[in-house]
Amino acid sequence: MAITLKSAAEIEKMRIAGRLAADVLKMIEPHVVPGVTTGRLDEICHDYIVNVQQAIPAPLNYRGFPKSICTSVNHQVCHGIPSDKVLKNGDMINIDITVIKDEYHGDTSRMFVVGKPTIQGKRLAQVAYDCMKVGIEMIKPGVTLGDIGFAIQTYAEKNRCSIVREYCGHGIGKGFHEDPQVLHYGKAGTGVVLEPGMTFTIEPMVNLGKRHVKLLPDDWTVVTRDRSLSAQWEHTNLVTDNGFEILTEHPDWPL
Ligand code: MF3
Ligand code: CO
Ligand code: CO
Repeated sequence: MAITLKSAAEIEKMRIAGRLAADVLKMIEPHVVPGVTTGRLDEICHDYIVNVQQAIPAPLNYRGFPKSICTSVNHQVCHGIPSDKVLKNGDMINIDITVIKDEYHGDTSRMFVVGKPTIQGKRLAQVAYDCMKVGIEMIKPGVTLGDIGFAIQTYAEKNRCSIVREYCGHGIGKGFHEDPQVLHYGKAGTGVVLEPGMTFTIEPMVNLGKRHVKLLPDDWTVVTRDRSLSAQWEHTNLVTDNGFEILTEHPDWPL
């Protein structure tokens, strides 16, 4: 599949979808407290997306995914399935929201602290946030995806963290996952050269321990092999004539 360059009219629709996805993260924040279940967070987001935003939660039934959002807690890396799991003080959770509005996707995720953060949890969430930001801030025409992956990997490893290899960012538009694949590691000067009108996510998964992951028997939830903490942030981005525009802007870390 080729990389699609978005027209001005498509970019306008991507801005709207991106803003809606970011709004869901803002809406859900006060609900992320000790005692709530990830299933309840899913219900609240589902109802908001469908009834208030009149949009579609993209994960629901995507390749058989059973819920409307992904909730990945502590050593869960990504694609955690909302359930009756109760959140407790000190847990770290990534909530990943993808909405479809007027045929276009907006995809964004962030870390939340449940109650009072642990020192390690806070540090890892900060490193993961900075990894995403280091990547996004490199975006401009002429830069390669290898340049971006290299910068993200270098930043993570300098901070004694590791980057998950098996999952990556992606082009996005009418499709949830379009070309290109956006690796969060790699070699400078290699890969796709960025052009204005490209839209893709940057969503590094960063582990406190080793980079290796495994898939749970539910066939969705990805966890670290060594059970070390994992954190992730994600934005949908547009390549502009002289830089980038974040289409899913929401409050920065630390909040
Ligand atoms: N939102 C995830 C991403 O950033 C993909 C989730 S796929 C699902 O690409 F099926 F688990 F929802
Ligand atoms: Co994504
Ligand atoms: Co996502």
